[in-house]
Amino acid sequence: MTTKNTLSITDNRTGKAYELPITDGTIRALDLRNIKVDEEDFGLMTYDPAFMNTASCRSAITFIDGDKGILRYRGYDIAELAEKSTHLEVSYLLMNGELPTKEALAKFENEVTHHTFLHENVKDFIDGFRYDAHPMGMLVATVGALSTFYPEAKDIRNRDNRRLQIVRLIAKMPTIAAWSYRHEVGLPYVYPDNDLGYTANFLSMMKRMAESKYQANPVLARALDVLFILHADHEQNCSTSAMRGVGSSEVDPYSAVAAAAAALYGPLHGGANEAVLRMLNEIGSLDKVPDFIARVKSGEGSRLMGFGHRVYKNYDPRAKVIKKLAYDVFEVTGKNPLIDIAVELERIALEDEYFVKRKLYPNVDFYSGLIYQAMGFPVDMFPVLFAIPRVAGWLAQWEEMLADKEQKISRPRQIYTGHDVRPYVTIDKRG
Ligand code: ACO
Repeated sequence: MTTKNTLSITDNRTGKAYELPITDGTIRALDLRNIKVDEEDFGLMTYDPAFMNTASCRSAITFIDGDKGILRYRGYDIAELAEKSTHLEVSYLLMNGELPTKEALAKFENEVTHHTFLHENVKDFIDGFRYDAHPMGMLVATVGALSTFYPEAKDIRNRDNRRLQIVRLIAKMPTIAAWSYRHEVGLPYVYPDNDLGYTANFLSMMKRMAESKYQANPVLARALDVLFILHADHEQNCSTSAMRGVGSSEVDPYSAVAAAAAALYGPLHGGANEAVLRMLNEIGSLDKVPDFIARVKSGEGSRLMGFGHRVYKNYDPRAKVIKKLAYDVFEVTGKNPLIDIAVELERIALEDEYFVKRKLYPNVDFYSGLIYQAMGFPVDMFPVLFAIPRVAGWLAQWEEMLADKEQKISRPRQIYTGHDVRPYVTIDKRG
């Protein structure tokens, strides 16, 4: 049999046959529009709630093979990047497609370092939040507010201008994040320290008190940098789709990043590591683990948080790195006692038929919360710690979208299920 890269369809409503090209394992949804019952007919559409089987773009940034547990940025394996690279180098890679030369990296690091300050009015803006405001809510609002400080950011078709806003965003996210935290706990804001690297500076803005200079423990600064690398991009997830969708209206990048960060705020996306900590606290001791697993399996209890993933049907490669990292951090901070419960949960789950059959493995959130907690971050900072590095991925995806000639303003179709036309009824005649 000769094979062709096409799909033959017979429309049984009309008996007509169609042949659609297959490219990269996809058919074009618009090709289906030629399939009509008659000339009046709109044409066939696909129905795909939650985009379970629809590619919305072509992308050369991040590759995931969920069955094999592979994650690569621009072709580089995530474990190798976590071992050998830095978050700023990875941000450059995501944005530019190639690893930087020594000079290019030094220039990029220098630019980011010199854009970490916020306009003084941003302090007043953050001061306006209630004393107990959630830092993620403050981050979403403040990053959006930056668009009013940089009105030139609207000129998104100018590459140099775009690059300046990208540097500003990567540079200012840690400052906004740290100041949101300081506001929440009622501590004075700490200005950026240009002598420090990206994560050491963030830790300084989070933790500095009366000392004239804050020197973060290098193991902890490096651990945070690795966590930032692991969280920098994850192809077309909910927040990245929000970035692309909102960015497709050609709004400035601060507004689009605010939308993406808002998507990340949701418990199904950036909030699962908090749920893992709550679960481990609830279990409380090693002897309760078998009973907890039994309740998960019977459906009486909650799910095993930090397990399972829409895409990974194998060990999440990020979880592997984080598990090892946890022990490096505990060498400095002392062991988080919850790690023993986590390891025992994982051991039992990976041997249990229920989890094996459903291909449920630890995901990125299973161990990350334990590290954040050991480093002294409060639970409500966890999604913020996710948003800081992910801004690099959002911006890389945004630039790729703007350069893609096939992209237009994002606008899905719907299947209308409401009333047919009906006459207006005046209020005195309504039952
Ligand atoms: N514990 C127990 N059972 C589970 C779990 C879990 N964590 N996850 C899935 N299952 C079971 C489901 O009950 C279902 O079983 P069934 O076929 O008998 O009904 C089967 O596995 C398939 O589950 P779905 O919900 O269809 O899988 P989906 O891909 O839609 O869900 C999700 C993925 C949301 C991540 C899910 O695994 C889950 O809720 N995990 C716990 C929450 C979590 O850790 N989220 C973080 C994800 S990573 C991130 O967003 C950064």
